[in-house]
Amino acid sequence: MAAVIETHRLSKAFGSLEAVRGLDLAVRPGEIYGLLGPNGSGKTTLMRLLVGLAKPDGGEAWVLGRRVPDRRLFAEVGYMTQAEALYPDLTAGENIAFFGALNGVSSRQRVEEVLQLVELTERAADLVGTLSGGLRRRVSLACALVHRPRLLILDEPTVGIDPQLRVAFWAHFRRLAQEGVTILVSSHVMDEAERCDRLGFMREGRLLAEGTTEELKRQAGATDLEQAFLRFAEGSDAA
Ligand SMILES: Nc1ncnc2c1ncn2[C@@H]1O[C@H](COP(=O)(O)OP(=O)(O)OP(=O)(O)O)[C@@H](O)[C@H]1O
Ligand SMILES: [Mg+2]
Repeated sequence: MAAVIETHRLSKAFGSLEAVRGLDLAVRPGEIYGLLGPNGSGKTTLMRLLVGLAKPDGGEAWVLGRRVPDRRLFAEVGYMTQAEALYPDLTAGENIAFFGALNGVSSRQRVEEVLQLVELTERAADLVGTLSGGLRRRVSLACALVHRPRLLILDEPTVGIDPQLRVAFWAHFRRLAQEGVTILVSSHVMDEAERCDRLGFMREGRLLAEGTTEELKRQAGATDLEQAFLRFAEGSDAA
């Protein structure tokens, strides 16, 4: 089956800083693909290129069979940004309804559904500006899910989320994957990384290593994923 995300020699620079360097990536339908890498290694920039919010300097990317950027993809992709992109003077429910409407979903029932999913039903009428950081992350995730996208691009979705809900989020991601939704997710949390089907390790804009948790550990000669991460990040011989 064709890849859901495919990039060839994808590159993006900010001045002399090469944030993404000739990156080749293929993400398969229905897999949860985790992006790992130190701060500043290019994960967010890669995601922004894939959703068409940044323009590549070189190479190309296809998402769901369309060459990006392509406006039609907005309705098919759910993107949860690392930085917050909510309206503080709208309620949680209104934010979700607004993102849904932008993407052709105006069902009140669907808004209720995703509110329930992120356990925010009771706070639906609260202004987002008055919610705590973790509660706002939940609203952001609901916004990314409301239009039932075929591809989810989640940039550190569980930062600030309490452990109980974090487990619930991951259970939901797995359910979505089983339904055929493809998920690209970045994380710095190793136990989350281990829940991914495959992982890509980025450093300095490049995809340095790729595989399952077991494969990455073997490649790095490490006993656990954290040690593998540190070895790849340092650029040891194992990398
Ligand atoms: N709009 C921009 N202008 C200038 N430099 C940028 C811009 N966006 C990103 N960068 C730089 O590109 C590099 C990659 O940043 P990016 O946000 O993609 O990293 P990241 O892997 O997502 O890091 P983190 O784990 O901290 O989220 C960094 O050095 C960053 O400062
Ligand atoms: Mg980032």
